[in-house]
Amino acid sequence: MTKANTNYLKLTAGYLFPEIARRVNAFKEENPNADIIKLGIGDVTEPLPTACCEAMKKAVDEMSDRATFHGYGPEQGYAWLREKIAAHDFQARGCHINASEVFVSDGAKCDTGNILDIFGDDNTIAVTDPVYPVYVDTNVMAGHTGSATEDGKYEGLVYLPMNAENDFTPPLPSQNVDLIYLCFPNNPTGAIATKETLTKWVNYARENDAIILFDAAYEAFITDPEIPHSIYEIEGATECAIEFRSFSKNAGFTGTRCAYTVVPEGLTAKGDDGSEVKLWNLWNRRQSTKFNGVSYIVQRGAEAVYSDAGQKQIRALIDFYLENAKIIREKLSKAGLTVYGGVHAPYLWVKAPSGYSSWDLFDMLLQKANVVGTPGSGFGSAGEGYFRISAFNSRKNVETAMQRIVENLQV
Ligand code: MLT
Repeated sequence: MTKANTNYLKLTAGYLFPEIARRVNAFKEENPNADIIKLGIGDVTEPLPTACCEAMKKAVDEMSDRATFHGYGPEQGYAWLREKIAAHDFQARGCHINASEVFVSDGAKCDTGNILDIFGDDNTIAVTDPVYPVYVDTNVMAGHTGSATEDGKYEGLVYLPMNAENDFTPPLPSQNVDLIYLCFPNNPTGAIATKETLTKWVNYARENDAIILFDAAYEAFITDPEIPHSIYEIEGATECAIEFRSFSKNAGFTGTRCAYTVVPEGLTAKGDDGSEVKLWNLWNRRQSTKFNGVSYIVQRGAEAVYSDAGQKQIRALIDFYLENAKIIREKLSKAGLTVYGGVHAPYLWVKAPSGYSSWDLFDMLLQKANVVGTPGSGFGSAGEGYFRISAFNSRKNVETAMQRIVENLQV
Protein backbone atom coordinates (compact mmCIF):
# COMPACT_ATOMS: atom_id res chain seq x y z
CA MET A 1 0.00 0.00 0.00
CA THR A 2 1.28 3.47 -0.84
CA LYS A 3 2.04 5.46 2.28
CA ALA A 4 1.49 9.21 2.47
CA ASN A 5 3.77 11.60 4.32
CA THR A 6 1.53 11.83 7.36
CA ASN A 7 3.69 14.58 8.85
CA TYR A 8 1.50 16.86 6.74
CA LEU A 9 -1.48 15.77 8.84
CA LYS A 10 0.16 17.35 11.88
CA LEU A 11 -0.15 20.81 10.31
CA THR A 12 -2.76 22.64 12.33
CA ALA A 13 -4.36 24.75 9.61
CA GLY A 14 -4.03 25.56 5.95
CA TYR A 15 -1.04 27.74 5.12
CA LEU A 16 -1.84 31.19 6.52
CA PHE A 17 -2.18 33.18 3.30
CA PRO A 18 -4.43 30.71 1.42
CA GLU A 19 -6.61 30.58 4.56
CA ILE A 20 -6.92 34.37 4.47
CA ALA A 21 -7.71 34.23 0.73
CA ARG A 22 -10.41 31.62 1.46
CA ARG A 23 -12.09 33.92 3.99
CA VAL A 24 -11.80 36.92 1.68
CA ASN A 25 -13.29 34.98 -1.24
CA ALA A 26 -16.20 33.78 0.90
CA PHE A 27 -16.85 37.40 1.94
CA LYS A 28 -16.62 38.54 -1.70
CA GLU A 29 -19.14 35.96 -2.82
CA GLU A 30 -21.64 37.32 -0.34
CA ASN A 31 -20.69 40.95 -1.00
CA PRO A 32 -19.75 41.13 -4.68
CA ASN A 33 -19.70 44.93 -4.71
CA ALA A 34 -17.42 45.37 -1.71
CA ASP A 35 -14.30 47.38 -2.56
CA ILE A 36 -11.75 45.27 -0.70
CA ILE A 37 -8.27 46.66 -0.01
CA LYS A 38 -5.62 44.03 0.63
CA LEU A 39 -2.87 44.83 3.12
CA GLY A 40 -2.47 41.19 4.08
CA ILE A 41 0.12 39.15 2.21
CA GLY A 42 3.30 41.11 1.52
CA ASP A 43 2.77 41.23 -2.22
CA VAL A 44 4.01 44.26 -4.12
CA THR A 45 1.68 46.36 -6.26
CA GLU A 46 3.90 48.81 -8.15
CA PRO A 47 5.26 47.97 -11.62
CA LEU A 48 8.72 46.50 -12.13
CA PRO A 49 11.65 48.95 -12.43
CA THR A 50 12.08 50.10 -16.05
CA ALA A 51 15.72 48.95 -16.03
CA CYS A 52 14.61 45.39 -15.23
CA CYS A 53 11.85 45.45 -17.88
CA GLU A 54 14.26 46.72 -20.54
CA ALA A 55 16.82 44.06 -19.69
CA MET A 56 14.17 41.33 -19.84
CA LYS A 57 12.82 42.60 -23.20
CA LYS A 58 16.34 42.51 -24.59
CA ALA A 59 16.74 38.99 -23.22
CA VAL A 60 13.51 37.91 -24.93
CA ASP A 61 14.92 39.22 -28.22
CA GLU A 62 18.10 37.22 -27.63
CA MET A 63 16.01 34.11 -27.02
CA SER A 64 14.25 34.60 -30.36
CA ASP A 65 17.50 34.44 -32.33
CA ARG A 66 19.40 31.15 -32.87
CA ALA A 67 22.74 32.95 -32.43
CA THR A 68 21.90 34.32 -28.96
CA PHE A 69 19.42 31.71 -27.74
CA HIS A 70 19.95 30.16 -24.27
CA GLY A 71 18.87 26.69 -23.18
CA TYR A 72 19.54 25.34 -19.69
CA GLY A 73 21.67 27.70 -17.67
CA PRO A 74 23.90 26.78 -14.74
CA GLU A 75 21.79 25.40 -11.86
CA GLN A 76 23.58 27.84 -9.53
CA GLY A 77 22.78 30.89 -11.66
CA TYR A 78 24.76 32.71 -14.35
CA ALA A 79 28.20 33.90 -13.26
CA TRP A 80 27.48 37.49 -14.38
CA LEU A 81 24.58 37.72 -11.91
CA ARG A 82 26.35 35.91 -9.07
CA GLU A 83 29.36 38.21 -9.45
CA LYS A 84 27.22 41.35 -9.27
CA ILE A 85 25.41 40.02 -6.20
CA ALA A 86 28.66 39.15 -4.41
CA ALA A 87 30.28 42.49 -5.25
CA HIS A 88 27.33 44.74 -4.58
CA ASP A 89 25.40 43.09 -1.76
CA PHE A 90 28.36 41.70 0.19
CA GLN A 91 31.87 42.81 -0.76
CA ALA A 92 30.80 46.48 -0.85
CA ARG A 93 29.74 46.03 2.79
CA GLY A 94 32.99 44.39 3.79
CA CYS A 95 31.57 40.84 3.78
CA HIS A 96 33.86 38.04 2.58
CA ILE A 97 31.43 36.40 0.19
CA ASN A 98 32.45 35.22 -3.28
CA ALA A 99 30.29 34.70 -6.34
CA SER A 100 30.75 30.92 -6.04
CA GLU A 101 28.96 31.03 -2.68
CA VAL A 102 25.84 32.65 -4.18
CA PHE A 103 23.12 30.29 -5.46
CA VAL A 104 20.46 32.02 -7.57
CA SER A 105 16.97 30.59 -7.16
CA ASP A 106 13.31 31.28 -7.80
CA GLY A 107 12.43 32.35 -4.28
CA ALA A 108 13.57 32.78 -0.69
CA LYS A 109 10.42 31.02 0.48
CA CYS A 110 11.36 27.90 -1.53
CA ASP A 111 14.98 28.09 -0.39
CA THR A 112 14.14 28.41 3.31
CA GLY A 113 12.04 25.27 2.93
CA ASN A 114 14.41 23.37 0.61
CA ILE A 115 17.46 24.03 2.78
CA LEU A 116 16.25 21.29 5.14
CA ASP A 117 17.31 18.76 2.49
CA ILE A 118 20.94 19.26 3.50
CA PHE A 119 20.46 18.87 7.26
CA GLY A 120 19.91 15.71 9.28
CA ASP A 121 16.60 14.82 10.86
CA ASP A 122 17.67 14.95 14.49
CA ASN A 123 18.69 18.57 14.90
CA THR A 124 17.16 20.70 17.62
CA ILE A 125 15.53 23.62 15.86
CA ALA A 126 14.83 27.07 17.25
CA VAL A 127 12.36 29.55 15.79
CA THR A 128 11.13 32.88 17.03
CA ASP A 129 7.53 33.32 18.12
CA PRO A 130 5.94 34.99 16.16
CA VAL A 131 7.62 33.57 13.06
CA TYR A 132 7.28 33.44 9.27
CA PRO A 133 5.22 30.22 9.07
CA VAL A 134 7.31 28.62 6.32
CA TYR A 135 10.15 27.83 8.75
CA VAL A 136 7.83 25.94 11.08
CA ASP A 137 5.59 24.23 8.52
CA THR A 138 8.50 22.89 6.44
CA ASN A 139 9.99 21.32 9.57
CA VAL A 140 6.63 19.77 10.40
CA MET A 141 6.39 18.38 6.85
CA ALA A 142 9.92 16.95 7.13
CA GLY A 143 9.00 15.13 10.33
CA HIS A 144 11.25 17.24 12.53
CA THR A 145 8.54 17.96 15.10
CA GLY A 146 6.01 16.17 17.22
CA SER A 147 2.33 17.01 17.20
CA ALA A 148 0.78 20.43 17.56
CA THR A 149 -0.05 21.43 21.09
CA GLU A 150 -3.17 23.30 22.15
CA ASP A 151 -1.47 26.68 22.01
CA GLY A 152 -0.57 26.17 18.36
CA LYS A 153 3.09 25.24 18.93
CA TYR A 154 4.76 22.01 17.83
CA GLU A 155 6.42 19.59 20.18
CA GLY A 156 10.14 19.39 19.65
CA LEU A 157 10.68 22.95 18.40
CA VAL A 158 12.33 25.55 20.63
CA TYR A 159 10.36 28.81 20.57
CA LEU A 160 12.09 32.11 21.30
CA PRO A 161 9.57 34.80 22.22
CA MET A 162 9.74 38.15 20.44
CA ASN A 163 7.52 40.68 22.09
CA ALA A 164 7.21 44.28 23.20
CA GLU A 165 8.71 43.34 26.60
CA ASN A 166 11.98 42.18 25.05
CA ASP A 167 11.88 44.89 22.38
CA PHE A 168 11.29 42.17 19.77
CA THR A 169 14.80 40.83 20.37
CA PRO A 170 14.56 37.06 20.82
CA PRO A 171 16.60 35.72 23.74
CA LEU A 172 19.42 33.24 23.14
CA PRO A 173 18.13 29.69 23.69
CA SER A 174 18.50 28.38 27.23
CA GLN A 175 19.16 24.90 25.85
CA ASN A 176 21.47 23.68 23.11
CA VAL A 177 20.02 24.11 19.63
CA ASP A 178 21.52 23.16 16.27
CA LEU A 179 19.56 25.24 13.75
CA ILE A 180 18.24 28.73 14.39
CA TYR A 181 15.93 30.63 12.04
CA LEU A 182 16.30 34.40 12.26
CA CYS A 183 14.60 36.95 10.02
CA PHE A 184 15.69 40.61 10.11
CA PRO A 185 14.19 43.06 9.32
CA ASN A 186 11.58 40.83 10.81
CA ASN A 187 8.53 39.38 9.22
CA PRO A 188 5.98 39.80 10.82
CA THR A 189 6.91 42.37 13.50
CA GLY A 190 9.02 44.76 11.42
CA ALA A 191 11.70 44.68 14.16
CA ILE A 192 15.41 44.99 13.36
CA ALA A 193 18.55 43.39 14.75
CA THR A 194 21.43 45.64 15.72
CA LYS A 195 25.05 44.71 15.17
CA GLU A 196 25.29 43.83 18.89
CA THR A 197 22.29 41.52 18.68
CA LEU A 198 23.61 39.72 15.61
CA THR A 199 27.06 39.46 17.18
CA LYS A 200 25.49 37.66 20.17
CA TRP A 201 23.83 35.20 17.81
CA VAL A 202 26.95 34.57 15.78
CA ASN A 203 28.95 34.02 18.99
CA TYR A 204 26.28 31.65 20.30
CA ALA A 205 26.26 29.68 17.05
CA ARG A 206 30.06 29.40 16.96
CA GLU A 207 30.30 28.37 20.60
CA ASN A 208 27.53 25.80 20.28
CA ASP A 209 28.29 24.42 16.80
CA ALA A 210 24.92 25.69 15.60
CA ILE A 211 23.93 27.11 12.23
CA ILE A 212 21.87 30.26 11.73
CA LEU A 213 19.45 30.35 8.81
CA PHE A 214 19.28 34.09 8.28
CA ASP A 215 16.41 35.44 6.19
CA ALA A 216 17.30 38.93 4.98
CA ALA A 217 14.54 39.26 2.38
CA TYR A 218 13.65 42.73 3.70
CA GLU A 219 17.17 44.18 4.10
CA ALA A 220 16.56 46.87 1.47
CA PHE A 221 14.08 48.56 3.81
CA ILE A 222 16.74 49.36 6.42
CA THR A 223 17.06 53.13 6.68
CA ASP A 224 19.69 53.40 9.44
CA PRO A 225 23.32 52.96 8.29
CA GLU A 226 24.23 51.40 11.66
CA ILE A 227 21.92 48.39 11.13
CA PRO A 228 23.54 45.42 9.35
CA HIS A 229 21.97 44.31 6.07
CA SER A 230 23.71 40.94 6.08
CA ILE A 231 24.69 38.58 8.86
CA TYR A 232 28.08 38.36 7.14
CA GLU A 233 28.77 41.90 8.36
CA ILE A 234 29.41 40.15 11.68
CA GLU A 235 32.84 38.62 12.13
CA GLY A 236 32.78 34.83 12.08
CA ALA A 237 29.35 34.55 10.45
CA THR A 238 30.72 32.75 7.38
CA GLU A 239 31.50 29.88 9.78
CA CYS A 240 27.95 29.59 11.11
CA ALA A 241 25.32 31.14 8.83
CA ILE A 242 23.41 30.67 5.60
CA GLU A 243 21.68 33.79 4.27
CA PHE A 244 18.54 34.07 2.13
CA ARG A 245 17.83 37.09 -0.07
CA SER A 246 15.13 37.96 -2.53
CA PHE A 247 14.43 40.34 -5.42
CA SER A 248 10.71 40.17 -4.56
CA LYS A 249 10.45 43.03 -2.14
CA ASN A 250 13.23 45.37 -3.27
CA ALA A 251 12.61 45.12 -7.03
CA GLY A 252 9.01 43.92 -7.09
CA PHE A 253 9.79 40.41 -8.38
CA THR A 254 7.03 38.58 -6.45
CA GLY A 255 5.47 37.54 -9.76
CA THR A 256 8.75 37.41 -11.70
CA ARG A 257 10.60 35.11 -9.25
CA CYS A 258 14.26 35.53 -8.46
CA ALA A 259 16.16 35.20 -5.20
CA TYR A 260 19.40 33.78 -3.92
CA THR A 261 20.93 31.89 -1.04
CA VAL A 262 24.48 32.26 0.24
CA VAL A 263 26.21 29.14 1.49
CA PRO A 264 29.80 29.96 2.51
CA GLU A 265 32.40 27.47 1.31
CA GLY A 266 33.84 27.07 4.81
CA LEU A 267 30.53 26.25 6.49
CA THR A 268 30.33 22.71 7.85
CA ALA A 269 28.01 20.45 9.81
CA LYS A 270 28.73 17.06 11.35
CA GLY A 271 28.62 13.76 9.47
CA ASP A 272 27.43 10.54 11.16
CA ASP A 273 31.01 9.75 12.14
CA GLY A 274 31.59 13.23 13.57
CA SER A 275 33.59 14.41 10.56
CA GLU A 276 33.12 17.88 9.04
CA VAL A 277 30.79 17.92 6.04
CA LYS A 278 30.91 20.97 3.74
CA LEU A 279 27.38 22.30 3.40
CA TRP A 280 28.31 24.11 0.16
CA ASN A 281 28.91 20.70 -1.45
CA LEU A 282 25.55 19.40 -0.29
CA TRP A 283 23.59 22.46 -1.41
CA ASN A 284 25.39 22.48 -4.75
CA ARG A 285 24.55 18.79 -5.17
CA ARG A 286 20.95 19.38 -4.10
CA GLN A 287 20.44 22.27 -6.51
CA SER A 288 22.13 20.42 -9.39
CA THR A 289 19.84 17.45 -8.85
CA LYS A 290 16.51 19.07 -8.05
CA PHE A 291 16.68 22.47 -9.76
CA ASN A 292 17.38 23.69 -13.29
CA GLY A 293 18.01 27.30 -12.49
CA VAL A 294 16.08 30.52 -12.99
CA SER A 295 15.23 31.51 -16.55
CA TYR A 296 17.84 33.48 -18.50
CA ILE A 297 15.31 36.28 -19.05
CA VAL A 298 14.57 36.70 -15.35
CA GLN A 299 18.25 36.59 -14.38
CA ARG A 300 18.94 39.40 -16.88
CA GLY A 301 16.11 41.33 -15.20
CA ALA A 302 17.69 40.73 -11.77
CA GLU A 303 21.10 41.77 -13.07
CA ALA A 304 19.62 45.13 -14.10
CA VAL A 305 18.84 45.82 -10.43
CA TYR A 306 22.58 46.47 -10.04
CA SER A 307 22.82 49.00 -12.90
CA ASP A 308 22.87 52.70 -11.96
CA ALA A 309 19.35 53.16 -13.29
CA GLY A 310 18.18 49.97 -11.54
CA GLN A 311 19.61 51.13 -8.21
CA LYS A 312 17.82 54.48 -8.46
CA GLN A 313 14.56 52.82 -9.47
CA ILE A 314 14.54 50.25 -6.68
CA ARG A 315 15.39 52.99 -4.17
CA ALA A 316 12.33 54.90 -5.36
CA LEU A 317 10.15 51.79 -5.00
CA ILE A 318 11.38 51.08 -1.47
CA ASP A 319 10.96 54.72 -0.45
CA PHE A 320 7.44 54.64 -1.81
CA TYR A 321 6.48 51.63 0.34
CA LEU A 322 8.28 53.10 3.36
CA GLU A 323 6.23 56.27 2.98
CA ASN A 324 3.11 54.07 2.97
CA ALA A 325 4.38 52.46 6.17
CA LYS A 326 4.87 55.90 7.73
CA ILE A 327 1.30 56.90 6.83
CA ILE A 328 -0.04 53.67 8.38
CA ARG A 329 2.01 54.20 11.55
CA GLU A 330 0.91 57.80 11.94
CA LYS A 331 -2.78 57.24 11.26
CA LEU A 332 -3.12 54.20 13.50
CA SER A 333 -1.03 55.68 16.31
CA LYS A 334 -3.10 58.86 16.18
CA ALA A 335 -6.22 56.72 16.49
CA GLY A 336 -4.84 55.34 19.76
CA LEU A 337 -3.45 52.01 18.54
CA THR A 338 -0.05 50.70 19.58
CA VAL A 339 2.01 50.16 16.45
CA TYR A 340 5.45 48.54 16.05
CA GLY A 341 7.67 48.16 12.99
CA GLY A 342 7.20 49.95 9.68
CA VAL A 343 10.39 52.02 9.97
CA HIS A 344 12.98 49.60 8.55
CA ALA A 345 10.43 47.14 7.20
CA PRO A 346 7.28 47.08 5.08
CA TYR A 347 5.30 45.47 7.93
CA LEU A 348 3.50 47.07 10.85
CA TRP A 349 2.69 45.01 13.91
CA VAL A 350 -0.40 46.44 15.51
CA LYS A 351 -1.76 45.59 18.96
CA ALA A 352 -5.43 44.71 18.63
CA PRO A 353 -7.75 46.84 20.78
CA SER A 354 -8.70 45.07 24.00
CA GLY A 355 -11.40 42.46 23.59
CA TYR A 356 -10.30 41.52 20.07
CA SER A 357 -8.42 38.35 19.18
CA SER A 358 -6.32 38.51 16.01
CA TRP A 359 -8.95 36.70 13.94
CA ASP A 360 -11.77 38.79 15.51
CA LEU A 361 -10.02 41.90 14.31
CA PHE A 362 -9.40 40.34 10.90
CA ASP A 363 -13.11 39.48 10.50
CA MET A 364 -14.29 42.85 11.80
CA LEU A 365 -11.99 44.82 9.48
CA LEU A 366 -12.92 42.65 6.51
CA GLN A 367 -16.63 42.99 7.12
CA LYS A 368 -16.88 46.60 8.25
CA ALA A 369 -13.90 48.33 6.63
CA ASN A 370 -13.39 45.90 3.74
CA VAL A 371 -9.68 45.92 4.59
CA VAL A 372 -7.61 42.74 4.71
CA GLY A 373 -4.68 42.40 7.09
CA THR A 374 -2.99 39.34 8.56
CA PRO A 375 -3.99 38.00 11.97
CA GLY A 376 -0.92 37.95 14.23
CA SER A 377 -1.88 34.53 15.61
CA GLY A 378 -1.20 33.10 12.15
CA PHE A 379 2.49 33.70 12.87
CA GLY A 380 2.48 31.77 16.15
CA SER A 381 0.89 31.84 19.56
CA ALA A 382 2.82 34.95 20.64
CA GLY A 383 1.16 36.76 17.74
CA GLU A 384 -2.27 36.40 19.32
CA GLY A 385 -3.77 39.81 19.99
CA TYR A 386 -1.72 41.37 17.17
CA PHE A 387 -2.45 42.17 13.56
CA ARG A 388 0.06 42.64 10.74
CA ILE A 389 -0.51 45.35 8.14
CA SER A 390 1.57 45.38 4.99
CA ALA A 391 2.64 48.65 3.36
CA PHE A 392 2.61 47.11 -0.10
CA ASN A 393 -0.19 48.87 -1.94
CA SER A 394 -0.92 52.06 -3.85
CA ARG A 395 -0.88 55.34 -1.90
CA LYS A 396 -4.58 55.83 -2.55
CA ASN A 397 -5.47 52.37 -1.22
CA VAL A 398 -3.30 52.82 1.87
CA GLU A 399 -4.91 56.18 2.65
CA THR A 400 -8.42 54.88 2.07
CA ALA A 401 -7.76 51.75 4.12
CA MET A 402 -6.45 53.81 7.05
CA GLN A 403 -9.45 56.09 6.96
CA ARG A 404 -11.80 53.10 6.98
CA ILE A 405 -9.93 51.34 9.79
CA VAL A 406 -9.94 54.44 11.98
CA GLU A 407 -13.64 55.01 11.35
CA ASN A 408 -14.54 51.45 12.29
CA LEU A 409 -12.27 50.94 15.29
CA GLN A 410 -13.29 52.08 18.72
CA VAL A 411 -10.02 52.03 20.65
C1 MLT B 1 4.30 37.64 3.76
O1 MLT B 1 3.27 38.26 3.57
O2 MLT B 1 4.66 37.25 4.88
C2 MLT B 1 5.16 37.39 2.59
O3 MLT B 1 4.50 37.68 1.42
C3 MLT B 1 5.62 36.06 2.60
C4 MLT B 1 6.45 35.70 1.43
O4 MLT B 1 7.17 36.53 0.90
O5 MLT B 1 6.38 34.53 1.09
